[in-house]
Formats: sequence, structure tokens, C-alpha cells
Amino acid sequence: MKDGKLQIGFIGCGGIAFNKHFPSLQALPDLCDMVAFCDIVEERAVKAAKEYGAPGAKTYTDYNEMLKDDSIDVVHVLTPNVVHAPATVAAFEAGKHVLCEKPMAHSTEAANQMLAAWKKSGKKFTIGYQNRFRPEVEALHKACEAGELGEIYFAKAHAVRRRAVPTWGVFPNKALQGGGPLIDIGTHALDMTLWMMDNYKPVSVSGSVFYKLGHLEEAAESNIFGPWDPKTYEVEDSAFGFIKMENGATIYLESSWALNMLGAKEAATTLCGTKAGAEIRSGMSVKDKEDKLVYNRGVHGKLMEEHCSPGSAVAYFSGPKLTDGVKEAMQWLNAIKNDTEPLVKPEQAFVVTQILEGIYKAAETGKEVFF
Ligand SMILES: NC(=O)c1ccc[n+]([C@@H]2O[C@H](COP(=O)([O-])OP(=O)(O)OC[C@H]3O[C@@H](n4cnc5c(N)ncnc54)[C@H](O)[C@@H]3O)[C@@H](O)[C@H]2O)c1
Repeated sequence: MKDGKLQIGFIGCGGIAFNKHFPSLQALPDLCDMVAFCDIVEERAVKAAKEYGAPGAKTYTDYNEMLKDDSIDVVHVLTPNVVHAPATVAAFEAGKHVLCEKPMAHSTEAANQMLAAWKKSGKKFTIGYQNRFRPEVEALHKACEAGELGEIYFAKAHAVRRRAVPTWGVFPNKALQGGGPLIDIGTHALDMTLWMMDNYKPVSVSGSVFYKLGHLEEAAESNIFGPWDPKTYEVEDSAFGFIKMENGATIYLESSWALNMLGAKEAATTLCGTKAGAEIRSGMSVKDKEDKLVYNRGVHGKLMEEHCSPGSAVAYFSGPKLTDGVKEAMQWLNAIKNDTEPLVKPEQAFVVTQILEGIYKAAETGKEVFF
């Protein structure tokens, strides 16, 4: 800490660093300084330090060198998925608090190593599931906590894109990411769904994983990010899972980067409870801004739907712009400062990783996987 501010170092200065972490932390100048930037591509670390670094910020190409700096309190791990575990473990061994991007890890073995290193360190640990901080998601979570939906016994976790294969970074690289849309965006939808259900006890999963469109030139042509390269596309293009929980509750998870289906829905969930149902209809790729959260239930003999109303419009608002990223960063830094638990608990993120791995295994073996 310097002048009451947490000193943050970054491992990985790519897309999520520049689009979420750096601008969000920049909005919290009273809580932190961005003092160290590491990337195996040196110019990315240098660019990050120049645009966001505190005076005297340092740059590195080897995170082990960066972690030797005792003035760094907190490390954000923002690398491809397979680097999450080694970088996080090294950061805990160096005595840092760690925020690691989602998914926690590409395998449960790697995630277990992270949990072990965290517990040994006595430091704080969280995972970057910023969708939990969207206002409509927070509102639905409050309703679930208050029991307004009753017992939630069936849910759908949605992460469906029609054609939105990421064309930057290393997303279609199996060795570096561990998988495609299931591990990349299925992870957000599943995290949100489990959090709403407050149910982290899976007993079994079955699943289907498809490699149908990724290799097709004609499918790549309609990608919203511009055509992907079918020759280097290694991961699944869609994956579906059926998850049974210890109490009998069941979740259907759908995920795709490319799928011939209408109604793209991402970072979204559908919940069915004994008292009411609810849907988060917004999400990263969905346009229906006014229809983010819908409740449904029977009222006095009629089936009803309740939609969110738009707030009143104001011409000028001088307060801080509380994006999901800023809210995530604020609660994370405050959890460290105040010695409280961050919202996203590592054990919860572990269960997400466990289920995703189970779906890949079930699809590969053609058999239901039991935990
Ligand atoms: N929370 C979200 O919604 C969200 C969105 C996008 C990505 N992500 C996650 O963030 C992570 C990074 O994704 P991205 O889109 O920024 O990818 P990216 O490829 O744009 O950036 C990753 C960066 O890490 C660097 N890197 C790789 N290995 C390294 C190492 N050993 N040491 C230091 N730097 C290293 C790369 O050079 C690259 O600059 C992934 O795990 C991804 O799942 C999360």
C-alpha cells in the first residue's frame, strides 16, 4: 500500500486488460495505483504502462520478475486460460492478492492447484465474473435471495452466438484456451445461473460438443468480427450440457460462437421456481435494452409477465459511471482493504470449471460424468 492505495501489477496486457481492467481501475484513483505491467509481447506492456501506469510504473516480459517486487499488493491475471493457474500460483507464493480472469482455469486439476496456493497464502482471491454486477442481474439475485421465485428446480444458462467467433487473441487455440465457447462464454452464463440458484452441488453432467462450423469457409464469412480463419480453428463451435444437482434441480447449458439458431442470448439465464420464473434477457450480444429482466408467475388466476420499465431520462449526470467493470473492481479492492470476502468466491468458480470439464468429458466418452 502506498498513501492508502493498493499497488496493482498485471500479468497479460491484451483485450480484457485494455477493455475492462485498466479503464475500470483508472476510475478508482483513490483506491489503487497501476504500477507494474507484464506481457510476453513487450510493446503491449509498454503501451499499457504509458496509457494507464502511475508515475514510474515498471514493465516486464517475465511475471516471475514482476512478482519479486514487494511493493506490489495485488495481481490481476489476464492471460490465455492455461496460464491462469501457473501465474496465480506464483502470485500467491509471492504473497499477492489475486484477481484471475474467467474461467478460473482450463481444468479442475489446474483450479485445484490455485485453490491450494490461495489457502496457503492467506490472501484474497476472486475470479472476473463481472456479469454479476449488471444492475438487472443484481436485482434478480436479490429476488432469488428473498425467495420470491420459491425453489428454483429448473434453469437454462444461455451463451448462444449465431456467428461471433473472436478473431483476436488466441481464442480458437485449444492448447492455450482449453476449449471454445463452452469454456469462454458458457462459463459466464453458468456462473450467473448457479449464483441465482445458490446451488453449488452438482452430481452429474452429460453433454454434446460440436465441431461443425469452425472449419467451414462459408460459415466464417458471416462472422460479426470479420471472418475467422477456418484453417487454424481448433476448438468446438457449440456445446450443450445437462447438469443434475444433488437436490434434483436441473440446468440446461447452451453455448456457441457459431450456430444456425435465431435468438442469440449471452450471459443470460432463465429460472423456473415454484413461486415464479424469471429471465435475464440482456447480455453481451443482445440489443433489447428495455427488456433486460422479466418475471413471470400466476396472479389471481391469470398468467402475468412483469418487465423492467426504463428509468427517467436525465440530460446530464455528473456522478461516476458505474460500469460492471468499475463495480467489480471497487468491491474487489474494498474486500482487500476491509478484509471482507469478495463477491465471487473461488470455490464457486471452481464448481463452474468442474461442470464445464465434465461436459467436455461426457461428450468425449459418450457417457454421463458423475462427480
Ligand atoms: N470477463 C470477461 O468477460 C472476459 C472477456 C474477454 C476475455 N476474458 C478472459 O481474459 C483472458 C485474456 O483474454 P484476452 O481477450 O485479453 O486475450 P488477449 O490474447 O487479447 O490477451 C492476453 C494477453 O496475455 C499475454 N500473455 C500470454 N501469456 C503470457 C504470460 N505467460 N505472461 C504474461 N503475458 C502473457 C498475451 O501476449 C496477450 O497480450 C482469458 O482468460 C479470457 O477468458 C474475460
